[in-house]
Amino acid sequence: MKPTYSGKTIVIIGGASGIGRECALLFAQHGGNVFIADWNIVEAEKTVEAIQKDGFKAKAEKLDITDSKNVERYFNSFITIDILVNAASVLVLKDAIETTIEEWLRLISINLTGTFIACKYAITAMKKANKGGSIINFSSSTGNYDAAPNSVAYVSSKGGVTLLTKALASDYAKYGIRINAVAPGPTDTAMIRECMSDSELERLQSTLPTRKFGHPRDVANVVLFLASEEASFINGAIIAVDGGQTAKIS
Ligand SMILES: NC(=O)c1ccc[n+]([C@@H]2O[C@H](COP(=O)([O-])OP(=O)(O)OC[C@H]3O[C@@H](n4cnc5c(N)ncnc54)[C@H](O)[C@@H]3O)[C@@H](O)[C@H]2O)c1
Repeated sequence: MKPTYSGKTIVIIGGASGIGRECALLFAQHGGNVFIADWNIVEAEKTVEAIQKDGFKAKAEKLDITDSKNVERYFNSFITIDILVNAASVLVLKDAIETTIEEWLRLISINLTGTFIACKYAITAMKKANKGGSIINFSSSTGNYDAAPNSVAYVSSKGGVTLLTKALASDYAKYGIRINAVAPGPTDTAMIRECMSDSELERLQSTLPTRKFGHPRDVANVVLFLASEEASFINGAIIAVDGGQTAKIS
């Protein structure tokens, strides 16, 4: 049975591109009322246009997830939020010596603190509305349990998102609010295409059990399931969507 999100309010942070965009398309196609918040308003509006062209509902807002005052204002503007998807992140592929303090602080403030800020204000709104809710955060195959070379800030941020998700899940289940995360493996989006050369992408692809990158839809399908009633006893889980990347030793 396909889940329906008719009448549900779904906020997607980072819904202008890649996996977040695919989540926006899919939730809208399943009847949801989709709100995309992204600092790239041009691409966010394009996603909204694509959704509306097919007769579904969506709206975009320019929002920097690190701007806590604006994030609080944004979440306060909803009467109810049923589902929050926290897909906004950036990637820096450098080791500790190469990573500047500014790069470290910026990445942690977007990937980890930004996820915390959105969760904090979404949970506040969900608790107030007293109707429960579901949050899906984004960890990563690199950083969930294990690190990867040359990505010290990114894997540290994603390890933080994993434990943030578990901490929130145990605190707010009593209010009917479930908080889970997906941990995608390499997925074909701007994030990896902009940070890696063609030969690096080819090399990475050849190490995967599937020998191919995931499609954003592969991850979005799991996000939709986690948000659904069918997943009502899943809480504090980090679901690998990585084609088996983390299942193999070498
Ligand atoms: N693509 C992969 O291989 C991969 C692998 C593991 C995990 N992930 C995770 O999946 C999630 C989605 O990644 P993607 O590959 O779709 O990336 P993407 O770059 O295509 O999309 C990220 C989106 O986040 C937005 N964003 C970034 N910083 C923001 C900020 N401060 N405020 C508001 N919006 C901001 C961007 O504008 C963009 O729309 C991320 O959390 C990423 O870490 C991706």
